[in-house]
Amino acid sequence: MRITPLTAHIGAAVEDVDITAPLDETTRTSLRAALCRRAVLVFRNQALTDAQQVTFTKALGPLEPTIPSDPIGDGGPIGVLTNIDAEGHIIPPDDKRVLYAVANTLWHSDGAFRRVPLRGSVLAAKVIPPTGGDTEFASLTAPYALLPAARKTEIADLAVEHSMAHSRAQIAPDLMSEEFLNATPPVVHPLVRTVAETGERALLVGSYAGKIIGWPSEKGAELLRELLEWCTQPQFVYCHRWRTDDLLVYDNRCCLHRGRAWDRAAHARVLHRTTLAGDDSLKAQCPSSP
Ligand SMILES: [Fe+2]
Repeated sequence: MRITPLTAHIGAAVEDVDITAPLDETTRTSLRAALCRRAVLVFRNQALTDAQQVTFTKALGPLEPTIPSDPIGDGGPIGVLTNIDAEGHIIPPDDKRVLYAVANTLWHSDGAFRRVPLRGSVLAAKVIPPTGGDTEFASLTAPYALLPAARKTEIADLAVEHSMAHSRAQIAPDLMSEEFLNATPPVVHPLVRTVAETGERALLVGSYAGKIIGWPSEKGAELLRELLEWCTQPQFVYCHRWRTDDLLVYDNRCCLHRGRAWDRAAHARVLHRTTLAGDDSLKAQCPSSP
């Protein structure tokens, strides 16, 4: 197996490994370590069934099922990101289901709105549009390391409120069902967290982050905007141009991501997602959490 960095700060290509087959312990350990260090792992030409994707995901850590009331899931292991309906027709771009998914074009860390955020995600490309629909990934560790020392001191103990509602409200009102709103109340996380395996610090920002606890809302929103801009500068970003049968794994603690636009009215785009469960360590890292 060969692991080759794709940019200075983020991303690695993983080659000469067949992830449709069971992985030995050495391979699994290497992949887990590379995921923490590079944040995004790119595998090409891996035509996995859903069952194989679940097995591969579990080789990297405990799997987290989808939330039953989430439009992309049914409580099972696979979340389907798609703009085609059950009959294979393209869903109109102004349909609520598509607008809900448009929020994926905002920079985010999967599951940051959960009490225990998701550790990682695995995306398998089933149908890819001829142009557009790329996914960009931005490091959260390198930008933190390169912050001025005074900034690090200023933000060290801040806590941030995250919610699914804050993300969806940036796209259109009333995108969330009552049931899903109730299932995803706001949560509070530290602004800076430590990645246990590497000891690196990472910023926890993105579209779910709404306010800084104890700060006036405009001042908090401004700092969150500024940090998001800092993290998403080109030198911290890897842009993935999808091909069918690509499989990407990313560590949600170490990077943000966003989907890019494509002609949603003309072309299908279908990705199957599985997710890796987080652990409770974040709560202990959040001194100002209520
Ligand atoms: Fe996402």
